[in-house]
Amino acid sequence: MSDATTRAGEERNAPPNVCCEGSSSAASAPLAAPIAEETSSEELRRLVRDKYGQLARESQSCCGSGADQDLERLGYSRDQSEILPEGANLGLGCGNPLAHAAIRVGETVLDLGSGAGIDVFLAAREVGPLGRALGVDMTHEMLERARENARRAGIDNVEFRLGEIEHLPVANDSVDLVISNCVINLSPDKPQVFSEAYRVLKPGGRLVVSDLVLTRPLPAEVRESVEAYTGCIAGASLRDDYLRQIRAAGFRDVETVEERGYVATGAECCVPDPVAESVLSMKVRAWKR
Ligand SMILES: C[S@@+](CC[C@H](N)C(=O)[O-])C[C@H]1O[C@@H](n2cnc3c(N)ncnc32)[C@H](O)[C@@H]1O
Repeated sequence: MSDATTRAGEERNAPPNVCCEGSSSAASAPLAAPIAEETSSEELRRLVRDKYGQLARESQSCCGSGADQDLERLGYSRDQSEILPEGANLGLGCGNPLAHAAIRVGETVLDLGSGAGIDVFLAAREVGPLGRALGVDMTHEMLERARENARRAGIDNVEFRLGEIEHLPVANDSVDLVISNCVINLSPDKPQVFSEAYRVLKPGGRLVVSDLVLTRPLPAEVRESVEAYTGCIAGASLRDDYLRQIRAAGFRDVETVEERGYVATGAECCVPDPVAESVLSMKVRAWKR
């Protein structure tokens, strides 16, 4: 088992200008008590659900907001951004996991933390009518938006299920490809997420994720900030720990296929400049052999 790290040359330092925060005023909502060692997983998930529920209620659709342009900077093709149903892109991703997934017609794809459905809809188009794309999200408001987007666009090879990515409502050995976009950093139990992804994949299936990771530990004031946690920074793992956790779940041929520096306009509120430099947007591919 080896980790081949391919850094995208000139792209490496190009800021993807992603916005895990979204553009809503939710980013400046009053904060709960700082996060401490003893803050429970349930409480962390509740903070995340509240934040993304609010974003789902308040966010406008992508069209005319400049989010389309952000998609291309994140690695989506113009064709991909053009076929998306209106409202599916809330500007919450940190890359394009599908760019590294080599999806085939007829496959079953599962998106962990599917939000308003952006990557589910793109995967659904690639797998075609003989395939299926599922999304799992724990936030009711996000599910409603995703289901409404599917209904309005008349896309019927998709399904959105309520659930936590640590306890997937998906059968063993049933999925060809698991994707995720800027979500696993929000989980208080990443080993459990990777172990669940492994469980639901068919033998020979693959995991392709886009996520935020760190090159060095965060200062305490960022680590303890609720805003930085729900903004996808404070819960991020160190890069090597993240790769180790994927391998520990049983995955083989764990490979970093792309890495970019992360400088997000939406995160400026909670991450000062020198700290933002230690945050990377990383895409990883791994296999269940
Ligand atoms: C930053 S947004 C990304 C949404 C989507 N992947 C995209 O790129 O637009 C994070 C999403 O993950 C969901 N989420 C966060 N933690 C979760 C968990 N533990 N289980 C299920 N969903 C979760 C949130 O509700 C939210 O919809």
